[in-house]
This record gives sequence, structure tokens and C-alpha cells, in this order.
Amino acid sequence: MASPPVAAILESLATAGKAFDKNEAGSREALIENSRALVAALEIPSEFIQRSFWAEPAMSANIAIAVDVKLFQHLKEAGDAGLSGAALAEKTGFDVDLLERLARHLVAMNILTYHDGAFHATALSKSLAEENYQHSISFCYDAARASFNGFPEFFKKTAYKSPASGGLDGPFQDAHKTKLPFFEWLVATPPYLQYFGSFMSAYRAGKANWYDAGFYPVAERIITGFDAEASDVLLVDVGGGGGHDVAAFAAQYASRPGKIVLQDRESVIAGVLASTEERSYEAQPHDFFTPQPIHAARAYSLHSILHDWSDEKGVKILENLVPALKKGYSRVLLNEIVVSEEKPTLAATSMDMMMLAHFAVRERTEANWRAILAKAGLKVVNIYTYPGVAESLIEAELA
Ligand SMILES: C[S@@+](CC[C@H](N)C(=O)[O-])C[C@H]1O[C@@H](n2cnc3c(N)ncnc32)[C@H](O)[C@@H]1O
Repeated sequence: MASPPVAAILESLATAGKAFDKNEAGSREALIENSRALVAALEIPSEFIQRSFWAEPAMSANIAIAVDVKLFQHLKEAGDAGLSGAALAEKTGFDVDLLERLARHLVAMNILTYHDGAFHATALSKSLAEENYQHSISFCYDAARASFNGFPEFFKKTAYKSPASGGLDGPFQDAHKTKLPFFEWLVATPPYLQYFGSFMSAYRAGKANWYDAGFYPVAERIITGFDAEASDVLLVDVGGGGGHDVAAFAAQYASRPGKIVLQDRESVIAGVLASTEERSYEAQPHDFFTPQPIHAARAYSLHSILHDWSDEKGVKILENLVPALKKGYSRVLLNEIVVSEEKPTLAATSMDMMMLAHFAVRERTEANWRAILAKAGLKVVNIYTYPGVAESLIEAELA
């Protein structure tokens, strides 16, 4: 399909702008998407190459340096007065001339501002000064970027074949000269396990959850019709990590019927049980490659679980769930990216590139999801989306 003409993009921008003024869900993301389309329609090749291959790599590098020398924190602390190049150089241990050149590029890239003889923080740079984002930047720059930089050589070397699904000789291993799976490399290479944890908690920040109003109709689909005689469990979160989803779900549906259960690996659940914080859910160790111990719950949610695994392993995880399901009653809720073939979003394809680089696995299209579910004896009931949110909610049940 040809790119839309500039006039059509401007019209879409105006529509999204009106929606943004009314605070409509997804309008901010629509404005960004249309702005990117506008740049793509206007930029000539020399500008495209300049932006993509020098300006953005230099910006990422300067931001990684900013993390090392706490540049964003110094500007945040300076408040409205900002800091002159000389003052900022003194605080960061930089040569003034070099500091001013690197910081000026961050001004040109809208990360900082410069006025009245001083560099100033922006709302973005203030957020980037927070620990979660600082760690995310270090993880992405040191660990992820190397795999992407190595794509051309790696795929040439491997004759442009897809890497063996879930295998241990993918772009990540090649770039980091390791035989370790990604997660083991993180453990063996401090502080990247900690940085990755921050990255995971930061990357969905500010986005709607599947159980928020307007996304998956929780009351209609799982609370209505709850049958305490089938099981006293309303929701099981399989591979729910530290319990952030179940805690938020329990708080939002405080007057719901039934129990909520968090399941994950023994080591993860031990951490949850060791916490002194009051819990609104039960926590149970469960390896999802073994049969699901809770039968006939109303719903089983798997959030960002299957995308970590090959189709073969994904089917095994689902097959271990299937005997626990009550036909016509239990719902399987997969909170996952569904990659659109027609109109793929940057959020979906960049996560697909992350999965290709680090795990040699993939984000899936709707056809891929239907196939993997069918292999395990399940069928899709409906796919719910929320404007501007990368992950959909796929509701499935016994076929
Ligand atoms: C990508 S994280 C998703 C965590 C959480 N559902 C979320 O969306 O934030 C994958 C989770 O799967 C868990 N996991 C990995 N292997 C597992 C297994 N064999 N059995 C149970 N949980 C497992 C991990 O401990 C981790 O919490």
C-alpha cells in the first residue's frame, strides 16, 4: 500500500488532536503514530539516513553516558535555574567543551532544553533520572543493542535462516560470545539481572492492564456466572511473577466472589511468601510444564508467558492446563501481543525483534495464536484490545 499523502496524515493528526483534548484512550499514541507517519512522508533519504544512522545512535550513546555521570539527576536537582555548561561539566567530571557538545545533541533531540545560558531538564529527562529507567537504559544499551548491531553479520553467517526456535546459538549468544541462555547470562553477568528486572517493570508503565475498565469485560465474562460449587477459585495467574497483576486485580474487584491464586516457580513464590506485605491472594509454587493442580477455576491468566517459548513448548504449557479446565466454564486468558500482518505497530515488531535477538522465539500473529491453541485442544472465543496498548487479551476455552 502506498504511503498516505501528507494532507491525509494532517487530517488524521487533527482528529487525534481533538480526541487528545478530550482525554480519549489511545489518542496520545495515535498522535505519536501519525507524527511518525508525517516525518516518514516528509523526510528525504539524506535526512532519513542522518536521523537513523548518526543522530539516533549518537543520542543513545550520549544518554548511556548521561546515566554513567548522573547528568539527568544533576539537571533535575538544579530545578528551574538549570546548569551552565561549565557547572554541569564540573558536576559530571567532563571537559567543558566535550560536555557542551554531547549535551547540545540532547537539546537537538528534544531530551534537554537550553536557554538563558544554561541546560535545563525536561519532563522526559526528569523521568529518565529515575532508577528504573536508568537501569533500563543500561540494559538496552549494553545487552540488547549489541545483538541488533550484529544482525547483518549473524544472518549472513547463518544463510538467512530462522535460528532454531528457542535455541542457544542466536544473535544474543553470537554478539556476547557466550553459550549461555539469555537468563543465565543475566545471572552470570552482574548487574544485568537487576537491570533487566527494572526494564521489565518499566516497559509497561503507564499502559492499561487487561483487567482495567474498557479492556477485557471482567464482570461480564468471569464474575458473572462464577460457580463456587465447581471451584472456589475465580482466577489463577500462571507464571504471575511477583504478583503485580493479581494484587491490582484484587484491589479493583474487591467485592468479587472467589479466590485469586498466584503461581510461579518455587524460587519466585518463596520471595512472595517471605514478604511481610499483606496479600489479597494466595501464592502457590507451580511449574507450568507439569499438570495444573487447580481444577475448574473460572479463569486462568497467562501474561507474557507463551511469547518466551517455542510453539512446541507453548503447546506443552497449554496441554498441562487443559485437563484442569471445565468445559463451557473455564476461560484461558492469554495477555499477549498479536502482531497485525496488515498494520504492524512499532511496539509489536520491536518486541518481536527483542524476542528474535535474545531467545530465538517470536511474537505471534492471530493465525499463529489460533494454530498453537488448536494444537492444545483450545479455541479462541474473542480477542480484546485497548487503544494504544501493545498486548491483547485472547480469551480461549476448550474446543
Ligand atoms: C516474562 S515473565 C512474566 C511475568 C508476569 N506474568 C508478567 O506479565 O509480568 C515470565 C514468568 O514466567 C515464570 N516462569 C518461567 N518458567 C516457569 C515455569 N516452568 N513454571 C512457572 N513459571 C515459570 C518466570 O518466573 C516469570 O515470572
